[in-house]
Parts: sequence; C-alpha cells; structure tokens
Amino acid sequence: MKVAVLASGRGSNLQSLINEWQDDSLPVEFVGVGSDNVKAQALIIAENAEIMTRAFPKESYQNRQAQEIDVLNWLEELGVELLILAGYMRVLSREFIQRADYPIINIHPSLLPSFPGLNAQKQAIEYGVKVSGCTVHFVDEGMDSGPIILQQPVPVFAEDDEHTLAERILKVEHQIYPEAVRLIKAGKVKREGRKVIIHTDS
Ligand code: GRF
Repeated sequence: MKVAVLASGRGSNLQSLINEWQDDSLPVEFVGVGSDNVKAQALIIAENAEIMTRAFPKESYQNRQAQEIDVLNWLEELGVELLILAGYMRVLSREFIQRADYPIINIHPSLLPSFPGLNAQKQAIEYGVKVSGCTVHFVDEGMDSGPIILQQPVPVFAEDDEHTLAERILKVEHQIYPEAVRLIKAGKVKREGRKVIIHTDS
C-alpha cells in the first residue's frame, strides 16, 4: 500500500510511523512526505529516512485552490493509496476530498467530537475534563468531523497544564496512529456511513 504523509511541523507522528515501518511492523510503502512549511522538521525526518519530500509553501501560491491542485497532482503521480495527515495545519477543501480517490486519515489530540480544531489540549484543560485522549478519523469536509477509526483515552490530572497533557496524549498518538494504518492496510477497517467497523478477529 502506497502511503503519503502531509505534515506542517515537528513530525513526531511521522517519526513514529517511520519507526514502525523500519522495524518491519508497518508493512506499507512511504512514497512521499509533503508540507506547506519549508522549514517543517517533518521534511528532515523524511529525508533522513530516504523518503521523497516536497514542499508546497502557501506563500508560493495565489490561493488555496492552486496549492491544493499541486498537492493533488503530486499525490496522483505517486500513486497514493492512503493519505495520512500528521499535524497538517491546513483544512482540506471539499474539492480536494472529492477528487482524492483514496482514503485520507488524520489524528487529533482529543476524544472527538469534544474539542475539535486548534489547541485541543488547552481546550480540554480549560473545560476541566477528567479524561481526554486522541482520535484517528477519516477526513471529511468538516473540521475534525469525519468517521472515527480509533480512540484512546488518557487521564487528566488536577496539576496538568496543556503541555503536560499534550505530552501524555502524544505518547498514545504514537501508538494508535501506526495501529490504525496497520488495520487499514490489513483490510480490517470498513466504513458504514458514520460508523467504522474494525474487524479484529482475522
Ligand atoms: C499532534 O498532536 C496531532 O494530534 C495534531 O497535530 C500534532 C502534530 O504533532 N494533529 P507532530 O507534528 O506529529 O509531532
């Protein structure tokens, strides 16, 4: 299965996927890592793993549509079968999602549908929840609103701030994102409308 990753920042989720791939526990082919940020650490992580990289910096384009067309063309050239968003800081347009004929997945640092959008960990702290976590979901046209594939809770302690909570959630992100990709690759993930059925018995 040919997979590409789009990432805008530090790339720790990308690194966790690459680690499992290098350990032969993630049997996919990383065909490219793209970014809207030329300075993304994720691009360096990909280069170190000898994965092809491409930057699509927003300042090089007149508008979002032009940038997205370049990204889509690149993904098509690569023959992508699964697109993984890993800290990609742009919301994909309806046109992008409709043209992509491969699944697109994302990871979000909260138990959706709570706390979508930016600063999910800060939102959780400010709300005062006792449990938060992370969610892997298919991407649809909304903000962190697509069908949920996997979720994992983590406790929130009284002494937590957004940084300590983010760190606790991130450790779990690094486990469930590779797991979700493994399940998809193994054909164990079936979408039925909003519901995602995981077949773990075979
Ligand atoms: C993660 O918290 C992820 O859930 C969110 O963006 C962050 C990306 O972190 N979508 P990294 O770049 O993978 O380290």
